Amino acid sequence: MWDYTDKVKEHFLNPKNVGELKDANAVGETGSLSCGDALKLFLKVNDSGRIVDATFMTFGCASAVASSSALTEIIKGMTLEDAEKITNDDISDFLGGLPKEKMHCSVMGQQALKKAIADYKGIQIMEKPGEVVCECFNITDLEIIEAIRDNGLESSDEVTNYLKAGGGCGNCLERIDEIIETAVAEN
Ligand code: FES
Repeated sequence: MWDYTDKVKEHFLNPKNVGELKDANAVGETGSLSCGDALKLFLKVNDSGRIVDATFMTFGCASAVASSSALTEIIKGMTLEDAEKITNDDISDFLGGLPKEKMHCSVMGQQALKKAIADYKGIQIMEKPGEVVCECFNITDLEIIEAIRDNGLESSDEVTNYLKAGGGCGNCLERIDEIIETAVAEN
């Protein structure tokens, strides 16, 4: 059993802002049902670039629901400029922390937000730039490098906690270790 904070439990049992936002003008989707977690984020942005409403639909565990609920609460009322700076740590901090094995849920929130903002601005985010390292979860080397740099990850276990990469068949673990070594050496 995971050790969840009261805030995580509260946002899981009574999630805020659930469902499709009919008049959304930005949508960001991440994850896939095949990996067990998926999130669709809806934003309503006004003419001055402020998020006036945000809702979500998710398929996932308690932390995925709580992280998505927290994300919508954090960004409502924010300008897009400020929302762009939201990190997965901000989502986790808002919830009083997440079990380290569940950090990928907050990462999913950050990714959905990034995609929704790009959608609003009409920017096409290139699907999956980089080379796919983990085929089980479709995670690329660039995503792994970004997670290592942003969160100071030092082991493949930590990468799995943040991105799920390596948490399936394990064939990619050696390559993940190499990426960690290179990223740490470059720092
Ligand atoms: S290829 Fe990464 S866990 Fe299977």
